Amino acid sequence: MYSKLWYLAIFIILFINTNLVTETNGAKKTEFIQRELDIDKSDTPKNILVGSILGGVSHLNPILEICKILVDRGYNVTLLAPGNFTATSTLYRSIPQIIIDNFACFDLAWKLKKPVVGYTSGTTYFTPPPPIRSDPIMGRGCHVSMENESFYNRFICAVVQPLRAIWTFQDSLNNINAIRAEVGVSKDHDFRGRTDTLFLLDNFFGFEVPTAWPPLHQEIGPILPDIFPNLSSDLDLFLSTHPRTMYIALGSCIFTTPENYATILQSALELIHQNILDGVIWATVKFNESELPTTFNLSNGNIIPTSNLINNLHPHIYIMKYAPQFAILSHENTKVFLSHGGVGSSHESMYTATPMLVLPIVFDQPGNAERLELTGMALKLSKFDLKVDDIISKVERLLNEESFKTNAKRMQVLAKFNSKRKYRGADLIEIMLNWAKYDGNKNENGELEVDIQTLLRSWITPDSRMGFIRGNYLDVFGAALIITLVLFISLGYGFYKVVLFAFRKWSLRSRESHQRLSKAKNE
Ligand SMILES: *[C@@H]1O[C@H](CO)[C@@H](O)[C@H](O)[C@H]1NC(C)=O
Ligand SMILES: *[C@@H]1O[C@H](CO)[C@@H](O)[C@H](O)[C@H]1NC(C)=O
Ligand SMILES: *[C@@H]1O[C@H](CO)[C@@H](O)[C@H](O)[C@H]1NC(C)=O
Ligand SMILES: *[C@@H]1O[C@H](CO)[C@@H](O)[C@H](O)[C@H]1NC(C)=O
Ligand SMILES: *[C@@H]1O[C@H](CO)[C@@H](O)[C@H](O)[C@H]1NC(C)=O
Ligand SMILES: *[C@@H]1O[C@H](CO)[C@@H](O)[C@H](O)[C@H]1NC(C)=O
Repeated sequence: MYSKLWYLAIFIILFINTNLVTETNGAKKTEFIQRELDIDKSDTPKNILVGSILGGVSHLNPILEICKILVDRGYNVTLLAPGNFTATSTLYRSIPQIIIDNFACFDLAWKLKKPVVGYTSGTTYFTPPPPIRSDPIMGRGCHVSMENESFYNRFICAVVQPLRAIWTFQDSLNNINAIRAEVGVSKDHDFRGRTDTLFLLDNFFGFEVPTAWPPLHQEIGPILPDIFPNLSSDLDLFLSTHPRTMYIALGSCIFTTPENYATILQSALELIHQNILDGVIWATVKFNESELPTTFNLSNGNIIPTSNLINNLHPHIYIMKYAPQFAILSHENTKVFLSHGGVGSSHESMYTATPMLVLPIVFDQPGNAERLELTGMALKLSKFDLKVDDIISKVERLLNEESFKTNAKRMQVLAKFNSKRKYRGADLIEIMLNWAKYDGNKNENGELEVDIQTLLRSWITPDSRMGFIRGNYLDVFGAALIITLVLFISLGYGFYKVVLFAFRKWSLRSRESHQRLSKAKNE
């Protein structure tokens, strides 16, 4: 067996530079000097305003993680978002927040001529994706990868659905453009909003379907905090005494029907009574447990009062409002994560190599469920057709088929290495600020103003300035196609003429010989 592994060996050649240290008259003199790593930031703009339309909850964490790095590097960061978030959080208390109710938007940066950077976790909404990538949100038959789809589905998802989206958003886009005109900001005809700026993407290929991004879209994910809340001693005890535990959490701001919650709890009880699992931890978050039926009737005839479950009297079920999710996922006894497939939860599950059962509910979740299933570390459920038997058989597969765990570990490799890229995210923001020094002009109030298109010229692909036809080289390839067609047609025509000529010659000659023959016969 080992003999087959020889080709995996990595040969490292060490060039030992004997000139590194030379001895001169007994004193050591080095010929090498440390490269200068830092740049002069003395007159770099230091104030950063971070605007979000989301208030609080887990969606703000990744960008605040980058803010923390920038604060450590000496920048003055202020968050502008609804809700009272940073003051009430443990990790991000150092970042001051201005609580707002209205939307933060890129147009403001255009108006005030400030450098601006966008941040998102999903790509479907900010970039016109190459047609091979779509999303279930676009309609039936549309998937995150259209690789194996029929011509019909590919046509619908690449042409018909995008046109429908443009039609649907036309009115609101016109409204926004009218407001833009009022405040003197140029119009934009993409209903997704301004996409001609630098976007940081909290994601990574492997989870995202691989594709080529323009340089303005830079992957820096998965962004995860370096520290996380520990298990309570109760939870620690529960996990260490239940070696086959499933963790259930359906996100912090969405919920499904009470019937679906009841089905999930019924499945959890059946899984325990069939000894497939021995523990279930459920973080109910926004769900009101009093909407559950009063009893759960198991297939073996046992009747379990719901109040026993809610009050944690059942020895194998642990129900709580909020759970230290990352600590639970990190525990070796957590074998399956039943999740809604939010991007944060998906990243944490990959980072901890926990196979997933995904019950997507809205937004990007159906797409994430497909992505996770494509990685081979997850199976998905349907919220419209949630069945106890389906959940049981899928949990059984996730536990028993080795491939789910192996693929989760593959994703863990990617997630762990890529999680260092939050520092790259902070670097990219610093690049913008340092460029602003050189591309900006001071206005009469002494404030730095910069044209964003000029600022980003090193990363804007030239084709975007060339228009659709020239940018895609349609004129050149069109001409090449026409030349090829003309060549083929004239060659074909020439060939036809030659064949015709030869045929005529031949038939003439054979007729002549025929006539000669019949003449000879007659004589
Ligand atoms: C930090 O930013 C806030 C808001 O942008 C501003 O009020 C404050 O003066 C800044 N502090 C420094 C030291 O620049
Ligand atoms: C935000 O929360 C902090 C800490 O709980 C509190 O001191 C502060 O008054 C709150 N601010 C607002 C505007 O509610
Ligand atoms: C499409 O089919 C091929 C061949 O069966 C498979 O390798 C690939 O993973 C499939 N792609 C998707 C997105 O299902
Ligand atoms: C986490 O909490 C558990 C129990 O509450 C404790 O045993 C453990 O030492 C803690 N871990 C760390 C790293 O503090
Ligand atoms: C949950 O629902 C019950 C009855 O439907 C209600 O009395 C209770 O206030 C609700 N709890 C919360 C936290 O909404
Ligand atoms: C469970 O069984 C009890 C008594 O047999 C019955 O009253 C109740 O309606 C059943 N509940 C469900 C959810 O089937």
